[in-house]
Amino acid sequence: MVASVEPFHAIAISRLAHEMAASGLAVIHMEFGQPSTGAPGPAIAAAHRILDADPMGYWENTALMERIARYYRDAHGVTVARDQIILTCGASPALVLALTSLFAPGARVALARPGYVAYRNTLRALYLEPVEMDCGAEQRFQITAAALDAIDPPPDGLILASPANPTGTIIAPEELAAIAAVCRRKGIRVVSDEIYHRLVYDGEAQSMLRHLPDALVVNSFSKFYSMAGWRLGWVVLPPELIATARARMGNLFLTPPSLAQHAGLVAFDCVEELEGHLRTYARNRALLLDALPRLGLARIAPPDGAFYIWADIGHLTNDSLDFCTRLLRDTGVATAPGIDFDPVNGHRFMRFSFAVSTAEVETAIERMIPWFAGQNQA
Ligand SMILES: Cc1ncc(COP(=O)(O)O)c(C=O)c1O
Repeated sequence: MVASVEPFHAIAISRLAHEMAASGLAVIHMEFGQPSTGAPGPAIAAAHRILDADPMGYWENTALMERIARYYRDAHGVTVARDQIILTCGASPALVLALTSLFAPGARVALARPGYVAYRNTLRALYLEPVEMDCGAEQRFQITAAALDAIDPPPDGLILASPANPTGTIIAPEELAAIAAVCRRKGIRVVSDEIYHRLVYDGEAQSMLRHLPDALVVNSFSKFYSMAGWRLGWVVLPPELIATARARMGNLFLTPPSLAQHAGLVAFDCVEELEGHLRTYARNRALLLDALPRLGLARIAPPDGAFYIWADIGHLTNDSLDFCTRLLRDTGVATAPGIDFDPVNGHRFMRFSFAVSTAEVETAIERMIPWFAGQNQA
């Protein structure tokens, strides 16, 4: 029997948003987790130059692998050898490589609910069994060591994300250390999705490698580096899994695009431009945290990182897809329904992505104030 994989409902919202925009309406795209800015200027300039000079064959940019290894030393104080890194077409295939290198079909892998929709669906597509951990507001929607320890029998694996999608919350360093201790004691293998690292407003996003050197870490150029469509990411593996993972990479995906690998190396050091985006997100976050309670959305966990706010709309609806569709039709503000991230409680949550311009956030707030006033009165 073929594994069943659910669709991503935000795609339906996005399709409607694009139809509305095509008919001349001013739509604000807060439905997807992608920066509205492009790749850093010097990376684009390098890509233009390289297009004329490079035949663009299959290629592995060892300089980029070295640069990434240096990032782990400089930013996280951990030693990663260049050859422990495999460049991938984004975090999505990195996740497939990590999961297929670690687990046989039927393995049980724990993950937070709410969580990134593709974790559950990728696990299912690979015939792995998701073990969803219900993470409520009281634990800021994040996995705790105690909750992991309580799973009986213990899972074979764990997917972590900190900062997380859809909430932006971070697992505090001492809790991360405690989670690592449980995993070490029980032999639980960890895949740590660190795609939102370098997008932090509050607290510290530590790499799981600091606590668990044999963790597998996935990361990407799609978020901080503002290069989602370039399709470039990486996975860090412990030495004993490199041959296994490389064999999978070669057969399943070959290499990421050469052009993206050239541009990614330049983008890695475009810190000023990229931190400019981060400052924009920080302003957007502050505006929304101030405005949402005025819309009646008071039950939110302020995001420590990423560019999302996960809001409880249970007092207004029991159908988040219908709610987000109506919000879009009436105001032109596109958001993501909670059911994508939490099939159990997500019908009463929605996610705002604030990786847009500050002017767009201001306009979205202006449009939403009267609309939510109407909903609160209904
Ligand atoms: C938590 C998380 N992991 C992975 C991905 C996939 O990213 P990529 O574009 O690198 O495949 C996303 C995309 O939104 C995400 O939110």
